[in-house]
Amino acid sequence: MRTGVWLVGARGSVATTSIVGGLALRAGLTAPTGCVTELPALRGPALPTFADLFFGGHDLATTPLTKRAETLADAGVLPGRLAATLAADLTAVEEDLRPAPTGGTQADRAAAVVADLTAFRQRHRLDRVVMVDVSATEPAARPHPGHADPAALRAALAGPDEVLPPSSLYAYAAVEAGCPYVDFTPSTGLRLPALAELAVARGLPYAGHDGKTGETLVKSVLAPMFAMRHLAVRTWSGTNLLGGGDGATLADPAANAAKVSSKQRVLGETLGYLPQGGTRIEYVEELGDFKTAWDLITFTGFLGTGMRMEFSWHGCDSALAAPLVLDLARLTAAAHAAGRVGPLTDLAFFFKDPLGSPTHSLGEQWQRLVEFTGRLHAGGTA
Ligand SMILES: NC(=O)c1ccc[n+]([C@@H]2O[C@H](COP(=O)([O-])OP(=O)(O)OC[C@H]3O[C@@H](n4cnc5c(N)ncnc54)[C@H](O)[C@@H]3O)[C@@H](O)[C@H]2O)c1
Repeated sequence: MRTGVWLVGARGSVATTSIVGGLALRAGLTAPTGCVTELPALRGPALPTFADLFFGGHDLATTPLTKRAETLADAGVLPGRLAATLAADLTAVEEDLRPAPTGGTQADRAAAVVADLTAFRQRHRLDRVVMVDVSATEPAARPHPGHADPAALRAALAGPDEVLPPSSLYAYAAVEAGCPYVDFTPSTGLRLPALAELAVARGLPYAGHDGKTGETLVKSVLAPMFAMRHLAVRTWSGTNLLGGGDGATLADPAANAAKVSSKQRVLGETLGYLPQGGTRIEYVEELGDFKTAWDLITFTGFLGTGMRMEFSWHGCDSALAAPLVLDLARLTAAAHAAGRVGPLTDLAFFFKDPLGSPTHSLGEQWQRLVEFTGRLHAGGTA
Protein backbone atom coordinates (compact mmCIF):
# COMPACT_ATOMS: atom_id res chain seq x y z
CA MET A 1 0.00 0.00 0.00
CA ARG A 2 1.96 3.05 -1.24
CA THR A 3 1.24 5.68 1.40
CA GLY A 4 2.14 9.35 1.45
CA VAL A 5 2.83 11.01 4.80
CA TRP A 6 2.29 14.74 4.32
CA LEU A 7 3.75 16.64 7.28
CA VAL A 8 2.53 20.15 8.08
CA GLY A 9 5.57 21.71 9.76
CA ALA A 10 7.81 19.39 7.73
CA ARG A 11 11.08 21.06 8.75
CA GLY A 12 10.35 21.04 12.49
CA SER A 13 12.03 18.76 15.04
CA VAL A 14 9.27 16.13 15.22
CA ALA A 15 8.83 16.05 11.43
CA THR A 16 12.56 15.83 10.69
CA THR A 17 13.02 13.05 13.26
CA SER A 18 10.01 11.21 11.75
CA ILE A 19 11.44 11.49 8.23
CA VAL A 20 14.97 10.42 9.27
CA GLY A 21 13.47 7.58 11.35
CA GLY A 22 11.18 6.42 8.53
CA LEU A 23 14.05 6.42 6.02
CA ALA A 24 16.34 4.61 8.50
CA LEU A 25 13.71 1.93 9.12
CA ARG A 26 13.18 1.50 5.38
CA ALA A 27 16.94 1.03 4.92
CA GLY A 28 17.16 -1.38 7.86
CA LEU A 29 19.58 0.97 9.65
CA THR A 30 17.71 1.07 12.95
CA ALA A 31 15.30 -0.97 15.06
CA PRO A 32 11.65 0.12 15.43
CA THR A 33 12.05 0.91 19.15
CA GLY A 34 9.19 3.21 20.18
CA CYS A 35 6.98 2.23 17.19
CA VAL A 36 4.05 0.51 18.85
CA THR A 37 2.73 -0.81 15.51
CA GLU A 38 5.76 -3.13 15.47
CA LEU A 39 4.75 -4.84 18.72
CA PRO A 40 3.45 -8.41 18.19
CA ALA A 41 -0.02 -7.36 19.43
CA LEU A 42 -0.39 -4.75 16.66
CA ARG A 43 1.84 -5.84 13.81
CA GLY A 44 0.14 -7.28 10.73
CA PRO A 45 -0.73 -7.20 7.04
CA ALA A 46 -3.23 -4.31 7.05
CA LEU A 47 -0.56 -1.70 7.77
CA PRO A 48 1.67 -0.17 5.11
CA THR A 49 5.30 -1.22 5.64
CA PHE A 50 8.01 1.35 6.31
CA ALA A 51 9.17 0.83 2.71
CA ASP A 52 5.64 1.87 1.59
CA LEU A 53 5.93 5.32 3.21
CA PHE A 54 6.75 8.44 1.14
CA PHE A 55 7.31 11.77 2.87
CA GLY A 56 6.40 15.28 1.81
CA GLY A 57 5.01 18.39 3.48
CA HIS A 58 4.69 22.12 3.96
CA ASP A 59 6.64 24.51 6.14
CA LEU A 60 7.00 28.25 6.53
CA ALA A 61 10.72 27.76 7.19
CA THR A 62 13.19 27.05 4.39
CA THR A 63 16.13 25.44 6.23
CA PRO A 64 17.19 22.37 4.18
CA LEU A 65 16.17 19.05 5.70
CA THR A 66 19.78 17.80 5.75
CA LYS A 67 20.74 20.88 7.80
CA ARG A 68 17.84 20.30 10.24
CA ALA A 69 18.91 16.64 10.60
CA GLU A 70 22.50 17.70 11.31
CA THR A 71 21.32 20.18 13.94
CA LEU A 72 19.25 17.46 15.62
CA ALA A 73 22.24 15.09 15.45
CA ASP A 74 24.49 17.75 17.08
CA ALA A 75 21.88 18.10 19.84
CA GLY A 76 21.94 14.32 20.48
CA VAL A 77 18.36 13.77 19.25
CA LEU A 78 19.42 11.37 16.49
CA PRO A 79 22.70 9.61 15.68
CA GLY A 80 25.04 11.73 13.51
CA ARG A 81 25.90 8.72 11.34
CA LEU A 82 22.24 8.38 10.30
CA ALA A 83 22.01 11.98 9.14
CA ALA A 84 25.19 11.44 7.09
CA THR A 85 24.23 8.01 5.69
CA LEU A 86 20.77 9.20 4.68
CA ALA A 87 21.87 12.51 3.16
CA ALA A 88 20.90 11.42 -0.41
CA ASP A 89 17.45 10.16 0.74
CA LEU A 90 16.88 13.41 2.64
CA THR A 91 17.74 15.39 -0.47
CA ALA A 92 15.17 13.31 -2.38
CA VAL A 93 12.49 14.09 0.26
CA GLU A 94 13.46 17.78 -0.02
CA GLU A 95 11.98 17.67 -3.56
CA ASP A 96 8.58 16.92 -1.97
CA LEU A 97 8.63 19.76 0.56
CA ARG A 98 6.65 22.84 -0.41
CA PRO A 99 6.55 26.37 1.02
CA ALA A 100 3.45 27.07 3.10
CA PRO A 101 1.14 29.06 0.79
CA THR A 102 0.80 32.75 1.62
CA GLY A 103 -1.18 35.64 0.12
CA GLY A 104 -4.60 35.68 -1.55
CA THR A 105 -7.77 34.54 0.17
CA GLN A 106 -7.91 31.51 2.43
CA ALA A 107 -9.75 29.70 -0.41
CA ASP A 108 -6.73 30.41 -2.66
CA ARG A 109 -4.29 29.07 -0.04
CA ALA A 110 -6.40 25.94 0.52
CA ALA A 111 -6.50 25.36 -3.26
CA ALA A 112 -2.69 25.62 -3.37
CA VAL A 113 -2.38 22.97 -0.60
CA VAL A 114 -4.85 20.71 -2.46
CA ALA A 115 -2.78 21.09 -5.63
CA ASP A 116 0.43 20.16 -3.74
CA LEU A 117 -1.22 17.08 -2.18
CA THR A 118 -2.65 15.95 -5.53
CA ALA A 119 0.69 16.40 -7.34
CA PHE A 120 2.49 14.43 -4.58
CA ARG A 121 -0.03 11.59 -4.84
CA GLN A 122 0.33 11.44 -8.63
CA ARG A 123 4.14 11.82 -8.69
CA HIS A 124 4.67 8.75 -6.49
CA ARG A 125 1.55 6.81 -7.65
CA LEU A 126 0.32 6.68 -4.06
CA ASP A 127 -2.78 4.80 -2.96
CA ARG A 128 -3.48 7.50 -0.43
CA VAL A 129 -1.86 10.42 1.39
CA VAL A 130 -2.29 10.94 5.15
CA MET A 131 -1.79 14.52 6.33
CA VAL A 132 -0.17 14.75 9.77
CA ASP A 133 -0.04 18.15 11.48
CA VAL A 134 3.22 18.56 13.42
CA SER A 135 3.47 22.32 13.01
CA ALA A 136 3.89 24.91 15.76
CA THR A 137 1.09 25.05 18.36
CA GLU A 138 -1.41 27.87 17.72
CA PRO A 139 -3.60 29.82 20.13
CA ALA A 140 -7.25 28.70 20.34
CA ALA A 141 -9.29 29.64 17.24
CA ARG A 142 -11.44 32.77 17.24
CA PRO A 143 -15.10 31.84 16.71
CA HIS A 144 -16.57 32.56 13.25
CA PRO A 145 -20.08 31.73 11.92
CA GLY A 146 -18.42 29.79 9.04
CA HIS A 147 -17.11 27.19 11.53
CA ALA A 148 -20.57 25.73 11.99
CA ASP A 149 -21.59 24.77 8.49
CA PRO A 150 -19.76 23.66 5.29
CA ALA A 151 -21.66 25.97 2.91
CA ALA A 152 -21.13 29.01 5.14
CA LEU A 153 -17.45 28.04 5.52
CA ARG A 154 -16.85 27.82 1.75
CA ALA A 155 -18.51 31.21 1.21
CA ALA A 156 -16.50 32.83 4.01
CA LEU A 157 -13.15 31.39 2.82
CA ALA A 158 -13.58 33.10 -0.54
CA GLY A 159 -13.83 36.48 1.22
CA PRO A 160 -11.12 38.64 2.77
CA ASP A 161 -11.43 37.34 6.38
CA GLU A 162 -9.01 34.98 8.13
CA VAL A 163 -11.85 32.53 8.85
CA LEU A 164 -9.78 29.51 9.88
CA PRO A 165 -6.57 29.28 11.90
CA PRO A 166 -3.72 27.78 9.79
CA SER A 167 -4.09 24.26 11.28
CA SER A 168 -7.77 24.18 10.27
CA LEU A 169 -7.06 25.54 6.80
CA TYR A 170 -4.64 22.61 6.27
CA ALA A 171 -7.27 20.20 7.63
CA TYR A 172 -9.85 21.69 5.23
CA ALA A 173 -7.42 21.25 2.31
CA ALA A 174 -6.72 17.64 3.36
CA VAL A 175 -10.45 16.89 3.30
CA GLU A 176 -10.89 18.65 -0.06
CA ALA A 177 -8.01 16.55 -1.47
CA GLY A 178 -9.53 13.32 -0.08
CA CYS A 179 -6.75 12.76 2.47
CA PRO A 180 -7.22 11.24 5.95
CA TYR A 181 -5.91 13.59 8.65
CA VAL A 182 -4.03 13.28 11.95
CA ASP A 183 -3.55 16.16 14.39
CA PHE A 184 -0.49 15.59 16.56
CA THR A 185 -0.73 19.11 18.04
CA PRO A 186 -3.13 20.84 20.45
CA SER A 187 -4.19 23.28 17.69
CA THR A 188 -7.79 23.40 16.42
CA GLY A 189 -7.16 21.35 13.25
CA LEU A 190 -10.28 19.46 12.21
CA ARG A 191 -12.12 20.15 15.50
CA LEU A 192 -14.77 22.42 13.96
CA PRO A 193 -18.29 21.20 13.15
CA ALA A 194 -18.09 22.27 9.49
CA LEU A 195 -14.81 20.39 8.95
CA ALA A 196 -15.99 17.25 10.76
CA GLU A 197 -19.13 17.24 8.60
CA LEU A 198 -17.07 17.66 5.42
CA ALA A 199 -14.70 14.82 6.41
CA VAL A 200 -17.61 12.46 6.94
CA ALA A 201 -19.26 13.55 3.67
CA ARG A 202 -15.97 12.75 1.89
CA GLY A 203 -15.72 9.32 3.57
CA LEU A 204 -12.51 10.19 5.44
CA PRO A 205 -11.21 9.08 8.84
CA TYR A 206 -9.30 11.45 11.12
CA ALA A 207 -7.46 11.27 14.44
CA GLY A 208 -6.23 13.60 17.21
CA HIS A 209 -5.38 15.55 19.30
CA ASP A 210 -1.96 16.30 20.71
CA GLY A 211 0.52 13.42 20.91
CA LYS A 212 0.94 11.91 24.38
CA THR A 213 4.66 11.51 24.91
CA GLY A 214 5.77 12.68 28.37
CA GLU A 215 4.19 13.93 31.57
CA THR A 216 0.63 13.23 30.36
CA LEU A 217 1.61 9.70 29.32
CA VAL A 218 2.79 9.03 32.88
CA LYS A 219 -0.37 10.68 34.27
CA SER A 220 -2.58 8.39 32.16
CA VAL A 221 -0.96 5.39 33.88
CA LEU A 222 -0.79 6.76 37.43
CA ALA A 223 -4.22 8.43 37.65
CA PRO A 224 -6.12 5.14 37.01
CA MET A 225 -3.99 3.51 39.71
CA PHE A 226 -5.12 6.09 42.30
CA ALA A 227 -8.71 5.75 41.10
CA MET A 228 -8.69 1.92 41.17
CA ARG A 229 -7.19 1.84 44.68
CA HIS A 230 -9.81 4.39 45.83
CA LEU A 231 -7.11 6.75 47.07
CA ALA A 232 -8.08 10.43 47.27
CA VAL A 233 -5.74 12.62 45.25
CA ARG A 234 -5.63 16.02 46.94
CA THR A 235 -3.14 17.88 44.75
CA TRP A 236 -1.29 17.18 41.51
CA SER A 237 1.16 19.86 40.36
CA GLY A 238 3.54 19.60 37.48
CA THR A 239 6.30 21.76 36.06
CA ASN A 240 7.55 21.16 32.53
CA LEU A 241 10.81 22.73 31.38
CA LEU A 242 11.42 22.52 27.67
CA GLY A 243 13.52 24.16 24.96
CA GLY A 244 13.47 23.65 21.18
CA GLY A 245 11.03 25.26 18.71
CA ASP A 246 8.05 23.85 20.60
CA GLY A 247 9.33 25.38 23.86
CA ALA A 248 9.81 28.76 22.16
CA THR A 249 6.26 28.64 20.74
CA LEU A 250 4.83 27.70 24.12
CA ALA A 251 6.52 30.73 25.70
CA ASP A 252 3.59 32.62 24.09
CA PRO A 253 0.80 32.67 26.72
CA ALA A 254 -2.00 31.90 24.21
CA ALA A 255 -0.26 28.80 22.79
CA ASN A 256 0.70 27.79 26.33
CA ALA A 257 -2.95 27.97 27.45
CA ALA A 258 -4.01 25.60 24.62
CA LYS A 259 -1.34 23.08 25.66
CA VAL A 260 -2.01 23.29 29.42
CA SER A 261 -5.75 22.71 29.03
CA SER A 262 -4.98 19.66 26.88
CA LYS A 263 -2.63 18.29 29.59
CA GLN A 264 -5.05 18.66 32.54
CA ARG A 265 -8.05 16.87 31.00
CA VAL A 266 -6.72 13.41 31.85
CA LEU A 267 -6.93 14.01 35.63
CA GLY A 268 -10.48 15.32 35.87
CA GLU A 269 -11.83 12.66 33.56
CA THR A 270 -9.97 9.73 35.14
CA LEU A 271 -10.43 10.61 38.81
CA GLY A 272 -13.93 12.05 38.47
CA TYR A 273 -12.81 15.22 40.29
CA LEU A 274 -10.08 17.77 39.74
CA PRO A 275 -7.36 17.82 42.42
CA GLN A 276 -5.87 21.16 43.38
CA GLY A 277 -2.82 22.21 41.35
CA GLY A 278 -1.97 22.78 37.74
CA THR A 279 0.59 22.23 35.03
CA ARG A 280 3.17 24.88 34.19
CA ILE A 281 5.26 25.02 31.04
CA GLU A 282 8.46 27.04 31.05
CA TYR A 283 10.83 27.68 28.15
CA VAL A 284 14.49 26.90 28.92
CA GLU A 285 16.38 27.36 25.66
CA GLU A 286 19.44 25.40 26.86
CA LEU A 287 17.40 22.17 27.10
CA GLY A 288 16.84 22.00 23.32
CA ASP A 289 14.68 19.00 22.48
CA PHE A 290 15.05 17.44 25.91
CA LYS A 291 12.27 17.99 28.41
CA THR A 292 12.17 17.71 32.17
CA ALA A 293 8.87 17.30 34.00
CA TRP A 294 8.54 17.26 37.80
CA ASP A 295 5.26 16.24 39.36
CA LEU A 296 4.26 16.24 43.00
CA ILE A 297 1.12 14.33 43.99
CA THR A 298 -0.37 14.38 47.49
CA PHE A 299 -3.09 11.90 48.39
CA THR A 300 -4.88 10.45 51.36
CA GLY A 301 -5.62 6.83 52.16
CA PHE A 302 -7.57 4.89 54.82
CA LEU A 303 -8.48 6.97 57.90
CA GLY A 304 -7.30 10.08 56.07
CA THR A 305 -3.57 9.30 56.30
CA GLY A 306 -1.68 11.76 54.11
CA MET A 307 0.95 10.52 51.64
CA ARG A 308 2.85 11.85 48.62
CA MET A 309 4.62 10.74 45.52
CA GLU A 310 6.96 12.59 43.19
CA PHE A 311 8.31 11.74 39.79
CA SER A 312 10.66 13.32 37.35
CA TRP A 313 10.76 12.58 33.64
CA HIS A 314 13.67 13.42 31.36
CA GLY A 315 12.54 12.78 27.80
CA CYS A 316 13.77 13.59 24.32
CA ASP A 317 10.54 14.97 22.89
CA SER A 318 11.17 14.36 19.21
CA ALA A 319 12.53 10.84 19.76
CA LEU A 320 9.35 10.03 21.72
CA ALA A 321 7.02 11.67 19.21
CA ALA A 322 8.49 10.55 15.86
CA PRO A 323 7.73 6.80 16.14
CA LEU A 324 4.14 7.69 17.09
CA VAL A 325 3.84 9.88 13.99
CA LEU A 326 4.85 6.85 11.90
CA ASP A 327 2.42 4.62 13.83
CA LEU A 328 -0.44 7.07 13.34
CA ALA A 329 0.24 7.46 9.63
CA ARG A 330 0.24 3.66 9.18
CA LEU A 331 -2.89 3.09 11.27
CA THR A 332 -4.85 5.96 9.71
CA ALA A 333 -3.91 4.79 6.21
CA ALA A 334 -5.09 1.26 7.07
CA ALA A 335 -8.33 2.62 8.56
CA HIS A 336 -8.96 4.60 5.35
CA ALA A 337 -8.26 1.51 3.24
CA ALA A 338 -10.78 -0.40 5.42
CA GLY A 339 -13.46 2.22 4.77
CA ARG A 340 -13.46 3.80 8.23
CA VAL A 341 -15.06 7.25 8.30
CA GLY A 342 -15.06 9.99 10.95
CA PRO A 343 -13.09 10.25 14.22
CA LEU A 344 -10.84 7.26 15.00
CA THR A 345 -11.64 7.12 18.70
CA ASP A 346 -9.78 3.79 19.04
CA LEU A 347 -6.49 5.68 18.51
CA ALA A 348 -6.95 7.52 21.84
CA PHE A 349 -3.85 5.66 23.14
CA PHE A 350 -1.68 8.15 21.21
CA PHE A 351 -3.24 11.42 22.38
CA LYS A 352 -3.39 13.75 25.37
CA ASP A 353 -6.80 15.05 24.37
CA PRO A 354 -8.29 12.17 22.40
CA LEU A 355 -11.29 12.65 20.12
CA GLY A 356 -14.43 11.06 21.53
CA SER A 357 -12.62 8.55 23.76
CA PRO A 358 -14.64 7.18 26.67
CA THR A 359 -11.45 6.72 28.72
CA HIS A 360 -8.14 8.44 29.52
CA SER A 361 -6.63 5.30 31.06
CA LEU A 362 -3.63 4.13 29.03
CA GLY A 363 -4.40 0.48 29.82
CA GLU A 364 -7.98 0.69 28.53
CA GLN A 365 -6.86 2.72 25.52
CA TRP A 366 -4.26 0.06 24.72
CA GLN A 367 -6.92 -2.66 24.82
CA ARG A 368 -9.13 -0.72 22.40
CA LEU A 369 -6.17 -0.17 20.07
CA VAL A 370 -5.31 -3.89 20.05
CA GLU A 371 -8.92 -4.82 19.22
CA PHE A 372 -9.17 -2.12 16.51
CA THR A 373 -5.91 -3.22 14.86
CA GLY A 374 -6.95 -6.87 15.12
CA ARG A 375 -10.14 -6.06 13.17
CA LEU A 376 -8.10 -4.22 10.51
CA HIS A 377 -5.77 -7.20 10.09
CA ALA A 378 -8.73 -9.59 9.94
CA GLY A 379 -9.95 -7.61 6.92
CA GLY A 380 -13.08 -6.23 8.57
CA THR A 381 -14.14 -2.62 8.52
CA ALA A 382 -12.63 -2.15 12.02
N1 LIG B 1 7.60 16.42 20.69
C1 LIG B 1 6.60 15.97 21.40
O1 LIG B 1 6.75 15.12 22.26
C2 LIG B 1 5.22 16.48 21.10
C3 LIG B 1 4.15 15.90 21.77
C4 LIG B 1 2.87 16.37 21.49
C5 LIG B 1 2.68 17.38 20.57
N2 LIG B 1 3.73 17.93 19.95
C6 LIG B 1 3.46 19.04 19.02
O2 LIG B 1 4.11 18.82 17.78
C7 LIG B 1 4.32 20.10 17.16
C8 LIG B 1 5.73 20.14 16.60
O3 LIG B 1 6.69 20.15 17.64
P1 LIG B 1 8.22 20.42 17.25
O4 LIG B 1 9.01 20.19 18.47
O5 LIG B 1 8.58 19.72 16.01
O6 LIG B 1 8.17 22.00 16.95
P2 LIG B 1 9.11 22.84 15.97
O7 LIG B 1 8.96 24.27 16.39
O8 LIG B 1 10.48 22.25 15.91
O9 LIG B 1 8.46 22.64 14.52
C9 LIG B 1 7.30 23.28 14.11
C10 LIG B 1 7.43 23.59 12.61
O10 LIG B 1 6.17 24.10 12.16
C11 LIG B 1 6.45 25.10 11.20
N3 LIG B 1 5.26 25.95 11.01
C12 LIG B 1 4.76 26.89 11.85
N4 LIG B 1 3.63 27.42 11.33
C13 LIG B 1 3.42 26.80 10.13
C14 LIG B 1 2.43 26.92 9.12
N5 LIG B 1 1.44 27.80 9.23
N6 LIG B 1 2.52 26.13 8.04
C15 LIG B 1 3.53 25.22 7.91
N7 LIG B 1 4.50 25.08 8.84
C16 LIG B 1 4.44 25.86 9.93
C17 LIG B 1 7.66 25.83 11.76
O11 LIG B 1 8.33 26.58 10.76
C18 LIG B 1 8.48 24.65 12.29
O12 LIG B 1 9.39 24.16 11.30
C19 LIG B 1 4.02 21.16 18.22
O13 LIG B 1 2.72 21.69 18.00
C20 LIG B 1 4.02 20.35 19.51
O14 LIG B 1 3.20 20.92 20.51
C21 LIG B 1 5.00 17.51 20.18
